[in-house]
Amino acid sequence: MRVGVLTGGGDCPGLNAVIRGIVRKGVQEYGYDFVGFRDGWRGPLEGDTMRLDIPAVRGILPRGGTILGSSRTNPLQAENGIRRVKENLTEEGVEALIVIGGEDTLGVAARLTDDYGVKAVGVPKTIDNDLSGTDYTFGFNTAVGIATEAIDRLHTTAESHMRVLVVEVMGRHAGWIALHSGLAGGANVILIPEQRFDLDQVCDWVTSRFTSSYAPIVVVAEGAMPRDGEVVLKDESLDSFGHVRLSGVGEWLAKQIEKRTGKEARTTVLGHVQRGGTPSAFDRWLATRFGLHAIDAVRDGDFGKMVALRGTDIVRVPIAEATARLKTVDPGLYEEVGVFFG
Ligand code: F6P
Repeated sequence: MRVGVLTGGGDCPGLNAVIRGIVRKGVQEYGYDFVGFRDGWRGPLEGDTMRLDIPAVRGILPRGGTILGSSRTNPLQAENGIRRVKENLTEEGVEALIVIGGEDTLGVAARLTDDYGVKAVGVPKTIDNDLSGTDYTFGFNTAVGIATEAIDRLHTTAESHMRVLVVEVMGRHAGWIALHSGLAGGANVILIPEQRFDLDQVCDWVTSRFTSSYAPIVVVAEGAMPRDGEVVLKDESLDSFGHVRLSGVGEWLAKQIEKRTGKEARTTVLGHVQRGGTPSAFDRWLATRFGLHAIDAVRDGDFGKMVALRGTDIVRVPIAEATARLKTVDPGLYEEVGVFFG
């Protein structure tokens, strides 16, 4: 059998580990043959492929990024997109497709499988950890580790100058990275997209931290927003490729804190540093297991399913179900962590 593999959406540490797991088991255990599609759905859409065999996956386990390349191309929005994808899969002799991606990339896989007969198996990936159906996605643990290390470092410089340090982390719709890194790094305030924040309350927490002779660290997810009535704090625009760009909440917050508390404040925006570089051991472990189970799903003919982590087991869930809604931070969990604020 010939199996196609693609990685779509924002890259994520662990993608290469998945690819390696799929190819190693597929070739060695099942005698399958593979083809890599370049740059997410752009590959099948334009028939752009690369060799994907054992030598191609040698040495890639600890490498960040993806050897296949990635993009946010959506064939459902391209002219004759579905027909072109199907034709190119047939031309390449691809009988099954493994799609490694987040909500958007997997959403396309669900449509193509459920409505157009493409035989796809999904593997969840996102540093944001906001995909439903799985306890964790790989990449998240690495991103949290990077953000936590940054917070640890910022504590010492904040204390030396008795300043407020605002750390903006990724998380457009979900605050998982902010919550986990903020708790692990001993932040004094954590702000997430799921709960609009009250600026007066944030300033009270900041001030109270100074009264106990400590400099506060405020962790804010890029998608966090103040309560109604506050000025527009974010520049949400489309770049020339049509991608949404969020910027500004960290800078805005530092300025507001300075103005209202009279304390000097600085902002660090971690950005793509959270997505780059080598995956953590946990992410290599999870990504490899996802790869091994994805090729098993292909062997079983269990298409339209996504591999997922439940507890310590890898299970299969319908891709359509996993992509129907985002997994966001539960208010109860946020409240639990809130005991450390201020
Ligand atoms: O979905 C992962 C993510 O890293 C988000 O947290 C972030 O908002 C977005 O991707 C950034 O996307 P881009 O790489 O297109 O700027």
